[in-house]
Amino acid sequence: MAKESKDELDYKSLSELLPISYLILDENLIIKSASNQFVNLLNIKRHLIEGFNLFYFFKVNMHMEEDSGIENLKLSLDKVLHEHTEEFMDIQKFNIKVNQNGIQTQVLKYWKVSNIPIFDRNKKLNHIILKIDDVTDSVKLKLMSLDQNKYFLRTRYQTDLKEKIQRSQKMELIGQLAGGISHDINNMLTIVNLNCDIILNSSQNISPVVKKQTEQIKKTSKHAAKLLHQILSFGKKQRLNLISLNINLIIEDIEKMLIRLLPENIELKKELSNEIENVLADPTHIEQVILNLIINARDAIGETGIIKIETSNKEIHEDISLGSHFLKAGHYVVLSVGDNGVGMDPNTQARIFEPFFSTKEEGKGTGLGLATIYSIVEQSKGTIVVNSELGKGTTFQIYFPATDLKLNSLKLEEQNNINLEGKEKILVVEDKEELSESISNSLKIYGYDVYLAKNGYDAIEIIKSKGNEIKLVITDIIMPLFSGKKLADSIVQLFPEIKIIFLTGHADDLLIRNEFSRDGSMLIEKPFLLKQLLIKIKEVIH
Ligand SMILES: Nc1ncnc2c1ncn2[C@@H]1O[C@H](COP(=O)(O)OP(=O)(O)OP(=O)(O)O)[C@@H](O)[C@H]1O
Ligand SMILES: [Mg+2]
Repeated sequence: MAKESKDELDYKSLSELLPISYLILDENLIIKSASNQFVNLLNIKRHLIEGFNLFYFFKVNMHMEEDSGIENLKLSLDKVLHEHTEEFMDIQKFNIKVNQNGIQTQVLKYWKVSNIPIFDRNKKLNHIILKIDDVTDSVKLKLMSLDQNKYFLRTRYQTDLKEKIQRSQKMELIGQLAGGISHDINNMLTIVNLNCDIILNSSQNISPVVKKQTEQIKKTSKHAAKLLHQILSFGKKQRLNLISLNINLIIEDIEKMLIRLLPENIELKKELSNEIENVLADPTHIEQVILNLIINARDAIGETGIIKIETSNKEIHEDISLGSHFLKAGHYVVLSVGDNGVGMDPNTQARIFEPFFSTKEEGKGTGLGLATIYSIVEQSKGTIVVNSELGKGTTFQIYFPATDLKLNSLKLEEQNNINLEGKEKILVVEDKEELSESISNSLKIYGYDVYLAKNGYDAIEIIKSKGNEIKLVITDIIMPLFSGKKLADSIVQLFPEIKIIFLTGHADDLLIRNEFSRDGSMLIEKPFLLKQLLIKIKEVIH
């Protein structure tokens, strides 16, 4: 064949003929191109695929159950983006929404996904190829034969499982209840926080008594926010700040606080393995687990005794039912807290993970400590093993799956030296008057020129009259009539230079966060501290 004709080959259409399902994503996970095979696999029109953020596309077209492969896909893509490695994932479950003659049904697919980074000439990552092998048929065949073998095993565990499901449903219900009111409580706490800051930052000389009392109010509202966060974790609705971390470092971090919690005659012994593997977890969760266990041990001991905190690696060789959960074979890090206190009888042991179960006198225990740990451990796919003997003591062992991922911390950096003042014009859009006034007064103290709008319509009017003079819009996401998202879309069309910060009281999941953090806009969660907001403003404006 002549050389010219070879060059003239249209490689794109050639690749489209290949029976391979793939998507080409850019570095912001926007779907730039979908292969014909992928379009056919999902039976969705091409223009409803290309141009959308991958996870937004999934959200629209898939059911987002807990055990779907979407969370794992996020982790895998995160790894590709950060470490620039190729990722070949195990088989994952995806539940696709199908519209047949106007009726919504779902189709379960098993996909093996590979994520391959593509680099430009300067070795900068600019695309990812997401290749999908649909292995649904072979997995279903395998499952059918496995099902027969497992039938006997399953009946053995059935009662056990039923109890676990009931327990987790109860927790979920509490989480849902808390989720419903968390928006309002977060708004109230934000007002309390901001007004404390206004008092503390006011230029007049405030008396030391007022200062102390105000700091006390701030501390209490922080405590309330933490409690709310803890209750929300039952419903798995709060945002997780997952990082790859070393549990030993967290223990060392909070050791001073732990010692302060213990009376003089309770000794805290540490045996931390040096070669401990990392785990993928939210550091505040690990802190909560350790704190709750230590406080329980302290209360079980009373006056004199020993608490031992240990960490070690442990390999589980086959899938087993261990302690509170089923465990997959693999590497784990075990955190153990033991005491020589009063111990528990079997009846108490059977109820310890129930929310609000406490044997402590009124006012001393809420009965949420171990329920919180249960929920955290469940989310991280670990387990809790309890050994207790009446009169001798108790040991809790918490298994966390080990990880070799190195994800970046999403933590707010503590930036102490930056100048938080500014003169820019900022529009605050919030339907709750007290909250918008608190925010506005706080920003004015730092020199900003603040405008207020009660809803999206007023906001648009103000923006139109001021034009590009407004540098930043701070808006609630959820507002009656005109949502923050809709407002943002209108602003982007009218004045694309205006920056946007979204306030949210709902504990949004990673997905919504991704959706809202496109195009430079950012999220800040209520209740926030004034300083957090000021730092965010600086990040966004400059
Ligand atoms: N180390 C321990 N030794 C003996 N009993 C324990 C121990 N840890 C927990 N328990 C029992 O389990 C119950 C539930 O513990 P949990 O931590 O959930 O709640 P709490 O400690 O009573 O209250 P909270 O932790 O919310 O302040 C306790 O009231 C106690 O009876
Ligand atoms: Mg407790």
